[in-house]
Amino acid sequence: MSQAEDHAGNRRDFLYYATAGTGAVAVGAAVWPLVNQMNPSADVLALASIQVDVSGIEPGTQLTVKWLGKPVFIRRRTDEEIEAARSVDISELPDPNAENFNLAAGVPATDENRALDETGEWLVMIGVCTHLGCVPLGEAGDFGGWFCPCHGSHYDTAGRIRRGPAPTNLPIPVAEFLDEATIKLG
Ligand code: FES
Repeated sequence: MSQAEDHAGNRRDFLYYATAGTGAVAVGAAVWPLVNQMNPSADVLALASIQVDVSGIEPGTQLTVKWLGKPVFIRRRTDEEIEAARSVDISELPDPNAENFNLAAGVPATDENRALDETGEWLVMIGVCTHLGCVPLGEAGDFGGWFCPCHGSHYDTAGRIRRGPAPTNLPIPVAEFLDEATIKLG
């Protein structure tokens, strides 16, 4: 299934490669003279980190950027989404681990351990179903988060697997705010 098809029918789930592309191009341009003199892996390393302008993302919408060949969902959650995610008893979760590469392995899958900021407004996740790798649809499924139509995995508004064959929560990549409008991935 193409990504265009994945996102069809979900108009608020913007597929917006341009932002990531801008960051990648800026990085690429800066290191090009060096890359010319170095081995090819330097090129890969230069692209390992990108900056994403998130200033245009309204609450309740999502930006999808491509990073290291994978879609990354950057969602600005509504109060309702945050509340729904934070009211879950984590003992009910199939995967009790936060799966957050910014934190120690094995920390519990509380919403606070998955959101990028303290208020919980921002959620950044690798948008690849942990079952067999399809791209889940946003604002879908039984828990109002993401739904993978390939085999029916339902993720909640924190991207945690709640029902279906996916074994683990959607992973949180290394990410941080550089300033209030810019998120750095990697
Ligand atoms: S790949 Fe998502 S449910 Fe199978």
